[in-house]
Amino acid sequence: HQVAPFDYIIFGATGDLTMRKLLPALYYRLTMGQVPDTARIIGTARSPLSREEYQGRARDALKRFVKADDFDEDTVERFLDMVHYVSLDGSKAESNWDGLREVLSHKADEHVRVFYYATAPDLYGAISANLAKEGLVTDDSRVVLEKPIGIDLKTADEINEGVGKFFKEKNVFRIDHYLGKETVQNVIALRFANPLLEAVWSAEHIESVQITAGEVVGVEGRAAYYDNSGALRDMVQNHLLQVLCLVAMEKPASLEADAVRDAKVSVLKSLVPLDKDTLRNASVRAQYTAGHIKGATVEGYLDELGHESNTETYVALRAEIDTPRWKNVPFFIRTAKRLKKKVSEIVVTFRSPETSLFPARPGRNVLVIRIQPDEGVSWSFNVKDPTNDDFALWQSTMDVHFEKSFNTRYPDAYERLLLDAVRGYPVLFIRRDEVEAAWKWVAPVMEAWARNDVPMAHYPAGSWGPEEARAMLARDGQLWHEDM
Ligand code: BG6
Repeated sequence: HQVAPFDYIIFGATGDLTMRKLLPALYYRLTMGQVPDTARIIGTARSPLSREEYQGRARDALKRFVKADDFDEDTVERFLDMVHYVSLDGSKAESNWDGLREVLSHKADEHVRVFYYATAPDLYGAISANLAKEGLVTDDSRVVLEKPIGIDLKTADEINEGVGKFFKEKNVFRIDHYLGKETVQNVIALRFANPLLEAVWSAEHIESVQITAGEVVGVEGRAAYYDNSGALRDMVQNHLLQVLCLVAMEKPASLEADAVRDAKVSVLKSLVPLDKDTLRNASVRAQYTAGHIKGATVEGYLDELGHESNTETYVALRAEIDTPRWKNVPFFIRTAKRLKKKVSEIVVTFRSPETSLFPARPGRNVLVIRIQPDEGVSWSFNVKDPTNDDFALWQSTMDVHFEKSFNTRYPDAYERLLLDAVRGYPVLFIRRDEVEAAWKWVAPVMEAWARNDVPMAHYPAGSWGPEEARAMLARDGQLWHEDM
């Protein structure tokens, strides 16, 4: 459905995220008829650009990040007509606020106003204060906060307080783009629309769960950000814990935002705290060294950086959830740069039945939910080996590839999320207590690593990660998916 006319005011409008994700996402939704032509996208940044110059950059961004087949000259023109630019330093009280006010004064009452903060998060409070002081925050104005919300609980609180003084919580949309992925939302459908799965979704039948977000890319142009952040803060505190919540949560009372978020936050609060002793066996951190990816030689992380660093590009954690449903089931979560393959997936391993009916114990059933790429679901199960008269078993796999099933383009996560903020529909955004609970759980890991309690491991670029991570699973009698 088409959303109401809106003014999207983007802070950080010349940055990578805006060019790579936000503008293409809004363009795609225009092609789908969901964005009215009267909507406006108002970029702001410090660079002194004219509107025409910024439109030029927007066009270049679409050229680069929209598929050639989807780049339609007429639609691009319609899109660029929606694009405005105000040269403004949002974090400064003395800046070109009049310029922004002037653009916004046009049809102010009829347009939903959404501010998007794609700047350094420590500026979010100052931008909010300036917007409020300038009288630009209306009762209904929304604000979208890009991650990371802080670097720990304290800084997250400061950011949330700084924004919360000027925006009501119901108008604050904290983005976690993993929740915008169709295949992540699909976890809710798989679990609660299929009795076959719902009936076995607990410790009684599930032996372990692993959640992976692996990337082939290195830190690219983002070394300055990344080296201060590391994989734990960049991916685990937010994306991977959100996926874990959807896999582990109790059935929400409804699909209303607060029902789902209540269910998720209780998972976060039930995560067994990691401490100094458990962490040695329950956490692996590592950096990539030089290696080969798709035939090319790539440098190690430290060479790429050009200086020493204690920042991890790989994390694997063993988590437990202290609820009756998940008693003693290990949840392994891992993420890394420069792995062999780009793969985000959830792997659920079921207990093998204790039966002596067959010549050998049946293999374990494995359900793989592929988040990306090759979105889909596969299910490995035992069948009778038709070539054997003694009831030997054989592992067979059913595999569904969604792109084939639905014959449709998989939208980028930002598309849905950007328009949900206009609609005022928060179910796929993070509530403040979720951010806090997630930071609380990762805090002891950050602290232990900072004290070097857990040594830094290494893995060659283009591999599946360090040996230490394999050993961690082996202690539970488990294998990472690629080793199964
Ligand atoms: C971002 C991280 O949040 O997610 C990046 O900051 C990472 O480092 C990206 O590359 C991964 O997203 P996706 O959608 O490609 O899995």
